[in-house]
Amino acid sequence: MEMRIKTTRIKKPRRETKEKLLSFYNSSFPKSQWSADYLDSFFRKKNKGVCFLAKNKKEILGFALGKIHRDDEDSMTLCALYVDPSLRGGGHGGGLIRMFLAQAFESGLFKKAIIHYRDSNDLRIFYEKSGFGKHSIVGEYSNGEKKHQMEILKENS
Ligand SMILES: CC(C)(COP(=O)(O)OP(=O)(O)OC[C@H]1O[C@@H](n2cnc3c(N)ncnc32)[C@H](O)[C@@H]1OP(=O)(O)O)[C@@H](O)C(=O)NCCC(=O)NCCS
Repeated sequence: MEMRIKTTRIKKPRRETKEKLLSFYNSSFPKSQWSADYLDSFFRKKNKGVCFLAKNKKEILGFALGKIHRDDEDSMTLCALYVDPSLRGGGHGGGLIRMFLAQAFESGLFKKAIIHYRDSNDLRIFYEKSGFGKHSIVGEYSNGEKKHQMEILKENS
C-alpha cells in the first residue's frame, strides 16, 4: 500500500518533534552527529533557519534543514537533507529541495543557497538535477574526506 507522505515547514517544533528529529538525524548521519543545541540553532530567529519535514502519520521520514551562512549573510546553507531509504527514488529528495529553495528565496532574505557533501556521498548529479552548479572542493571533513560545495543563485539576483 502506498504510504501517504506530507511535507511541511516547521517553524517552532514541539519538544517531542525536536527529540524525534535529532534522533532521526543522528541515526541517519553517523559521521556527523548533532547536539540538541545545534539542532536548536536552526530555530533561533537570528539564524533565519528553514526546516521541512516529510512525515507519514507517525514518523519523520525525511528532512531538509538550513540556515544563514556563517560568513555570508546573503547566503543560505542547506545543512542536511535526508530521505528514508524506503522512499528513495520517489521524488521526495527533489521535492524537499524545491520547497526549501522556494522558502529561502521567496523570503527575500537570501540570494544564494550552498550545499556541501562528502566524497563518500557522490551527489553531484543529484544536486545538478535540482539546479545547483559551480562545483568545487572547499576543504576536508575531520575524517579526511573531501568537502564538496555546490551553489544555486536566486533567479534575477
Ligand atoms: C540524496 C537523497 C536525499 C535523494 O533523495 P530521493 O528522494 O531518492 O531523490 P529523488 O527521488 O527526488 O531524485 C531526484 C533525481 O535525482 C536522482 N538521484 C537521486 N539520488 C541520486 C544519487 N545518489 N546520485 C545521482 N542521482 C540521484 C534521481 O534519479 C532523480 O532523477 P530524475 O529526476 O531524473 O528522475 C537520498 O538518497 C538520501 O537521503 N541519501 C542519503 C543522505 C544524503 O546523502 N544526503 C545528502 C547529504 S549532503
